Amino acid sequence: MSKEGETVVYSIDHSKMNLKHRKVLQTLSCAVLLAYTSLLVYQSFSRSGRGLSQISKKDNQILKKYNYERNLAQEQSLNELEGSYSSTEISSATATAKPPTTTLDDVFISVKTTRNYHGSRLPIILKTWFQLAKKQTWFFTDTEDQDFQQKTNGHMINTNCSSSHNRKALCCKMSVEFDTFLSTDKKWFCHFDDDNYVNVPRLVRFLGDYNPREDWYLGKPSIQAPLEIVSKDKKSQKVRFWFATGGAGFCLSRALALKMMPVASDGKFISTGEKIRLPDDVTMGYIIEHLLKKPLTVVDQFHSHLEPMKFIRRDMIEDQISFSYAKIKDEWNVVRIEGFDEKYDQNRFLSLHCFLFPQFNFCPTRRKR
Ligand SMILES: *[C@@H]1O[C@H](CO)[C@@H](O)[C@H](O)[C@H]1NC(C)=O
Repeated sequence: MSKEGETVVYSIDHSKMNLKHRKVLQTLSCAVLLAYTSLLVYQSFSRSGRGLSQISKKDNQILKKYNYERNLAQEQSLNELEGSYSSTEISSATATAKPPTTTLDDVFISVKTTRNYHGSRLPIILKTWFQLAKKQTWFFTDTEDQDFQQKTNGHMINTNCSSSHNRKALCCKMSVEFDTFLSTDKKWFCHFDDDNYVNVPRLVRFLGDYNPREDWYLGKPSIQAPLEIVSKDKKSQKVRFWFATGGAGFCLSRALALKMMPVASDGKFISTGEKIRLPDDVTMGYIIEHLLKKPLTVVDQFHSHLEPMKFIRRDMIEDQISFSYAKIKDEWNVVRIEGFDEKYDQNRFLSLHCFLFPQFNFCPTRRKR
């Protein structure tokens, strides 16, 4: 056969093939069309069609598998810490009646301080808001101080913690604060720093809106997004949680504090803090939000010196729970309030106090509204 013949034969064969293909394709598309139409008809007739339930079953399987793997991952990442917790009951308080009325005596107020600040920070507190909660407020420090022990009617507690401002010392004090609260019969644990002014009646009224027999973690974060840390376990998985800034003050209900005991009481707060290597308030958030899965309730009326105090409007002051101050270089971050001369009242706590409680004997004038 000639080359040409070959080509011809080939081309003929090719066209035959094309013809065959076309027929097959036509048949196929007819079949597909038919199948599709019948599927449509089938689906429209059987409303709770099997197709749908199969999809959701499959979804369920995927979800189950996902959850299973997630739980497995979580379990694997559980360190001794979480292991010790899982043995206790997590269930929240049930069937609690209407919250009983809250009085000042239901609140345990702790103030964290250190020996270097006794002289400069405690006198203004003792002169102002401490007078409204003398029996309920305790100062947690790191030394014996007879002078202030007397001035506070024996309300100075020497934690025996280091006076340095490092993580371990801070967690050590928080640990003693927490244990001291547990040893009382108070319904609320409220922590503040020695640069806080606490609006005591407002705090009590505020707590009255919550039931101490339920789990409450009340405070204010100072970051815009939850903190993300990488846990140091084998899996090095990310852990995300919110925490209330210690410098703004925060409160815990007794019910929540009791649930925290396996990882936070009898000094365990320190070892927990050591494990995640983060400060006291962050450790608190880690325990409550991550380990116990109880959310932080954001309360805007708590204020730390990390936020500009000047933004607290005068007509909002009465509604706020805590205030703070800071001196950054030569700038004072203080509440803008009229009253005493700045030389005499640089952090504005005296003026703030007289604005809120003009009946105090050192307040010169009644405030104008
Ligand atoms: C601190 O140490 C003293 C003397 O050892 C002790 O009496 C006191 O109970 C300790 N305080 C705390 C909070 O453990």
